[in-house]
Amino acid sequence: MAVIAVFNQKGGVGKTTTCLNLTAALALANRNPIALDMDPQGHLSIACGVKNATAPDVGMEKFFKYQTPLTKLLRDTPAGWQIISSSLGLAKIDALYGSDPKAATLLKQGFGEDLGLTGAPILIDCCPMLGVLTLNALLAADRVLIPVSADFLSMQGVHRLDSALNVLETKLKRKFERRIVLTRFDSRRKLSYEIFDKLKERFGAKVCNTRIGENVALATSPMHGKDVFAFSPNSPGAADYRALTIELGNSGFFDAEEMAVH
Ligand SMILES: Nc1ncnc2c1ncn2[C@@H]1O[C@H](COP(=O)(O)OP(=O)(O)OP(=O)(O)O)[C@@H](O)[C@H]1O
Ligand SMILES: [Mg+2]
Repeated sequence: MAVIAVFNQKGGVGKTTTCLNLTAALALANRNPIALDMDPQGHLSIACGVKNATAPDVGMEKFFKYQTPLTKLLRDTPAGWQIISSSLGLAKIDALYGSDPKAATLLKQGFGEDLGLTGAPILIDCCPMLGVLTLNALLAADRVLIPVSADFLSMQGVHRLDSALNVLETKLKRKFERRIVLTRFDSRRKLSYEIFDKLKERFGAKVCNTRIGENVALATSPMHGKDVFAFSPNSPGAADYRALTIELGNSGFFDAEEMAVH
């Protein structure tokens, strides 16, 4: 089972867009993925079109407050995959557990007890902060996908994030398989290419060759509660996420054999 935390501490770089469309592409490839919304903003829950998406005490909030088994919190999306939704109350989890060191391992334990046994790839949409929620996601995950938008400050942030993951690896005595994906790539801007080249120079094969271009269908589909494949399957955004899914799949990131994404 692959557990993938989609994380970057920088906001607005395409974490949720990437999580939504990768999960949808995996569903189209019959991989039965599960998405976890670990951001109190609940953007993924809203974007995937489930009803009363961010109602309190139904999704991840319920898990953290009452240790409800994760499989009991799964909801079906209109696109046919499953999600555990988020709500604003999730923001209080830090305060609820304070500095209890066990707080960071709750999700990992939860996986061990049920969801992890399903064998489905699990994608976790993280919030843009390295607090208790994100630590839970990272400790439960064995892979980290880092979306980076094609601008200078975003690129700077990756170095810090990479170092933080290195520290965590040493502490946990285990490796995180990592991939960096460049998002909001504007092919008309020289800067976009320069950033891609610099990332490749520094992080080599960890940087995906597929770049996600700036695309209106990607920005619009969440408003309709749809992923880009349901909203505009022939758009450049759909083509980019299809290509990314295949590239990640072929490099073993989903524990996948060769995948056909329709
Ligand atoms: N490739 C793209 N083309 C056009 N718009 C995009 C693209 N990727 C993301 N966006 C838009 O940019 C905004 C931020 O994207 P998104 O919500 O995925 O980022 P995020 O990293 O999850 O943000 P946060 O840190 O707040 O959780 C959204 O309005 C989204 O629709
Ligand atoms: Mg987000």
